[in-house]
Amino acid sequence: MGKIYPFGYNDAAVNIMKTRTAQDNAKLFLNYAKPNMHILDVGCGPGSITIGLAQALPDCHIIGIDKEGSQLDIASEAALQHKVVNCSFEQASIFELPYENDSFDAVYGHTILMHFKEVEAALAEIRRVLKPGGYISFREVDFGSNIFYPSDSALAEVMGLFRRSFFHNDANPDLGRSLAHLLEQNGFSVKEFNISMSQATTLTQKEGMYQSMVALWQQAEFPAQAVELGWITQNQRDAIPAQLITEASQSHTLNSTCYVEVVATLT
Ligand SMILES: C[S@@+](CC[C@H](N)C(=O)[O-])C[C@H]1O[C@@H](n2cnc3c(N)ncnc32)[C@H](O)[C@@H]1O
Repeated sequence: MGKIYPFGYNDAAVNIMKTRTAQDNAKLFLNYAKPNMHILDVGCGPGSITIGLAQALPDCHIIGIDKEGSQLDIASEAALQHKVVNCSFEQASIFELPYENDSFDAVYGHTILMHFKEVEAALAEIRRVLKPGGYISFREVDFGSNIFYPSDSALAEVMGLFRRSFFHNDANPDLGRSLAHLLEQNGFSVKEFNISMSQATTLTQKEGMYQSMVALWQQAEFPAQAVELGWITQNQRDAIPAQLITEASQSHTLNSTCYVEVVATLT
């Protein structure tokens, strides 16, 4: 197996992304958004955040771009279903944005910069399409700061392998901690940042979250790659789903994923 996209475009991954909302996942950015902004959402995936931004900012227009056509089909269908008309979706790479210089008042991205090594090239392209004084906001994970209890739980094991897989596949799952510095080094002036822990707290929420992780474990490629690389055995891989289901019903198990959101302006 060569390099893989650990999350993938499987149903489990898409369903996890569909639960994301502008209110939760673009909270800081929404404080800075102003009427009539022309906003670009880079790496929009199935578009739940893009559509949420459009609903929260009815005077603005939001374009979501993604390199993967299947995600844009899901996003466009969802916008139609929700009758949201002030957003649109286009297939494009963050490294080659099909827009004129100074086209946007703001650029937003959620869990996108973590996926590749060439972050500086992506930021240069974003700088090009952003108007002087324009806003950018990124929210990225920091898997190295997650908290799980027990620390040898199946969930901790799964998320540890997920993190290792991102590193192995040229991504940076710990990007959150250096995000503000990275933006500063690339011509942006940091206005504000926020660190938050996403967590499932009630037993019902935990059941839903652990079931999502079982589905991801069964559908994503990273568990097979972990076996192939000798990080775990096939027996360990096969045992994980049942262990996750058991942990979901235990009231003492704790889970959390760390996110860092930064808002900056083009200086
Ligand atoms: C983890 S998903 C996040 C989707 C969405 N922002 C969200 O949080 O729900 C990352 C997305 O980035 C897209 N992506 C990765 N590299 C890209 C690139 N070079 N140009 C455009 N999109 C890219 C992937 O196709 C994927 O849909």
